[in-house]
Amino acid sequence: MAESTPTTNGQATAAHDSREYAEYLTAQDPLKHLRAEFFIPSKADLARETLPGKDLTPPSHDDESVYLCGNSLGLQPRRVSQRLQQYLSTWATQGVQGHFKALTDSPLPAWLHADDAAAKAMAPIVGAAPAEIAVMETLTANLHFILSAFYRPQKEGRHKIIIESKAFPSDHFAVESQIRHHNLHPSTSMITIDPPTGTSLLPTSHILATIDEHASTTAVLLLPGIQFYTGQLLDIKTITAYAQAKGIFVVWDLAHAVGNVPLQLHDWNVDAAAWCTYKYLNSGPGAIGGMFVHERNSRVTTTTTSSNGATNGEKKETEEKEFHPRLAGWWGSDKKTRFAMTNDFSPIPGAGGFQVSNPSTNDLTTVCASLEVFNLTSIAELRKKSLGLTAYLEDRLLALQKKSGGFKIITPSNPEERGAQLSVQLEEGLLEGVMEELVKGGVIVDERMPDVIRVAPAPIYNNAVDVWRFMDEFEKALGSVREGKVGGGGGGVEKVVTN
Ligand SMILES: Cc1ncc(COP(=O)(O)O)c(C=O)c1O
Repeated sequence: MAESTPTTNGQATAAHDSREYAEYLTAQDPLKHLRAEFFIPSKADLARETLPGKDLTPPSHDDESVYLCGNSLGLQPRRVSQRLQQYLSTWATQGVQGHFKALTDSPLPAWLHADDAAAKAMAPIVGAAPAEIAVMETLTANLHFILSAFYRPQKEGRHKIIIESKAFPSDHFAVESQIRHHNLHPSTSMITIDPPTGTSLLPTSHILATIDEHASTTAVLLLPGIQFYTGQLLDIKTITAYAQAKGIFVVWDLAHAVGNVPLQLHDWNVDAAAWCTYKYLNSGPGAIGGMFVHERNSRVTTTTTSSNGATNGEKKETEEKEFHPRLAGWWGSDKKTRFAMTNDFSPIPGAGGFQVSNPSTNDLTTVCASLEVFNLTSIAELRKKSLGLTAYLEDRLLALQKKSGGFKIITPSNPEERGAQLSVQLEEGLLEGVMEELVKGGVIVDERMPDVIRVAPAPIYNNAVDVWRFMDEFEKALGSVREGKVGGGGGGVEKVVTN
């Protein structure tokens, strides 16, 4: 980056550490209009102990909080309440008819088709065909559904699951329990990849070497698209191809990658993947999750056999469906016969065939409303902005580090190996105090024990001024805590605990 740049009116030059420069960057942002699609909590909102009045008017610029926490819980898109109201009105006026009847002036589908609408809207976000997507259940549940179908260990053959040693605990628990479910033991069937000694990142070569070491005995590889703690983006395409060449089924946890970085799950030949929608997809806490199953893993073939009837010798035709075994429920069965109430499970070809229960229309409506905002742009455009915004954050952090120390960035410096998030590792003993000061300053980022704060400018609503304001508060917080003026004592500020 150049040392100084014209301001918006082009009459002066602005130093890179100035707010003026951040305002200049923000004014140049071709996606700046998308911010108005979201509720940005004001500082006063964050301090509230009661519900606000009816009117959630946008706060003026400096009253806004600095929200750089989309890696944990994305902000609420304004259109969610409108779509939810339309859904609620349909329910109120139509009752059960809403399952089959779409109102002519409503943008919402009949509830029976809400899952298809959500899969269609989700498909471009992850680079898949709509049939390869199911918007269903939740992330950990979907990992279980995938493993239940595709982890078929043989004691003497392939029985291992490889994950990273620092996997999100829920993934670890899911894998451990799946192994035990098959009467195997994690000590022999679970392989955990540790980062090389003294580092926190997982080089691709290191992952491939672990695959080599366990190639003939491994059934499944489960890795995160983006590692939640370090923010490292793994090379999904290379790792997938390498493991598959060794006969391993490859699953990705895309919690921190979806809506954040471009994904081409179909073209990268990923076997299966699961994600949540409450982070970069802004669908609200605990909202319904997503699942990808490559079409080649979810085909349904029908064979027809003819036989002579036992009594009258008449020809009888029987149809047999062949499909990959799975945990099944009625929502995975063919829509055309679903309500016939027979006991013939006829799975929908594709990821839809892995659904079990009728999904929450409430959730599907929210996810689709949020994806409408993504539809106003593209993942490619968002990534372009994100690369600039995170580079700007990195630039400012490195300048502060040089000036005063106290922390280091543990996320890869190569932009191709990270998404929006930078993980900032603080010197020992600073975390609690710094977090307290940031919250007091109206800054929301999240902490990860023992010593990391994760800072994620989400390109769909954040801008360079947010980054500048974060840096301003972070510098002050770091200074005060290191000088012992504040921090570490609780200070009456509620802890922000996020996932
Ligand atoms: C990487 C990762 N995996 C799994 C989970 C668990 O998600 P859920 O509670 O939706 O199952 C999370 C939650 O934040 C996560 O970040």
